[in-house]
Amino acid sequence: QSIRIIGAPMDYGADRRGVDMGPSAIRYAGLADGLSRAGVDPTDSGDLSIPRAEERDPDAKQPSRGNAKFLREVEDVCTRLADRVEQTLADGEFPLVLGGDHSVAIGSMQGSSRDADLGAIWFDAHADLNTPETSPSGNVHGMPLAATLGRGTFEDQAWATAPRVREGSIAYVGLRSIDDRERKLLRDSEMTAFTMADIDEQGMTSVVETALDVATTDTDGVHVSLDLDWLDPKTAPGVGTPVRGGVTYREAHAALETVSRRHESGGILRSMDVVEVNPILDEGNETATLAAELAASTFGKRIL
Ligand code: ARG
Ligand code: MN
Ligand code: MN
Ligand code: MN
Repeated sequence: QSIRIIGAPMDYGADRRGVDMGPSAIRYAGLADGLSRAGVDPTDSGDLSIPRAEERDPDAKQPSRGNAKFLREVEDVCTRLADRVEQTLADGEFPLVLGGDHSVAIGSMQGSSRDADLGAIWFDAHADLNTPETSPSGNVHGMPLAATLGRGTFEDQAWATAPRVREGSIAYVGLRSIDDRERKLLRDSEMTAFTMADIDEQGMTSVVETALDVATTDTDGVHVSLDLDWLDPKTAPGVGTPVRGGVTYREAHAALETVSRRHESGGILRSMDVVEVNPILDEGNETATLAAELAASTFGKRIL
């Protein structure tokens, strides 16, 4: 399988600067080598070119866009990213998107679902389901699933919504930080949500198997969105919104190896993003290294 690496060094969607250096850090940590050793064939298509946030006005809002900082800029990047992802799939390769903050997922999911019904697994501490109306922060990295599903002011934003991603085909794994109004959105939705407590009770492998069932039922493929703050901050310190009580190093590998085994037997995966690595907050590039290792695990790296 050919994997096309697409860098999306965007930090418009997050408060802590530095996440735009994520793609460089993950590459430097040996992503391409790790993928090759896993037995797939990586090619690197480079980074999207993205103006620095300092050159832009965070509040340059279009009418009725509510509280969403840099939304125009996010739209521009995600539109170009969606085209790159769509083209990658059309060329028969697998798009592996490196963020950047999690708002890049709006573009990845739209591009990946233009020609397919797409399920998704969201490995994250956060639900990322705020709308510009409910967001306490105004940061778009807390909104990508609301954008994809066309919630709130995203309803008429064609660049963001992905009509071929159904709520019922989305599963969260590892949730532990949800805002009050976001909790209501999540409860009222058809998404499947596994919290850290579910992982404690059922074990990671079993949770991920069920999440895979959800994402593969009546879909043509699965998008995996891996936010590094899914892991415990002791293991992955280089993230902008750390939350205690996260997934361990071993659980993370077990999760992505479970995804990998299902992909090997059924070719279920269609696209993936690896997001929220912030090298400025990291310790010795360990979070980027973990991101690269987990990508390799997804594509078949095994201990033996
Ligand atoms: N729920 C919070 C917010 O809306 C945090 C979101 C964090 N998202 C992320 N992709 N790290 O601001
Ligand atoms: Mn098309
Ligand atoms: Mn998160
Ligand atoms: Mn996230």
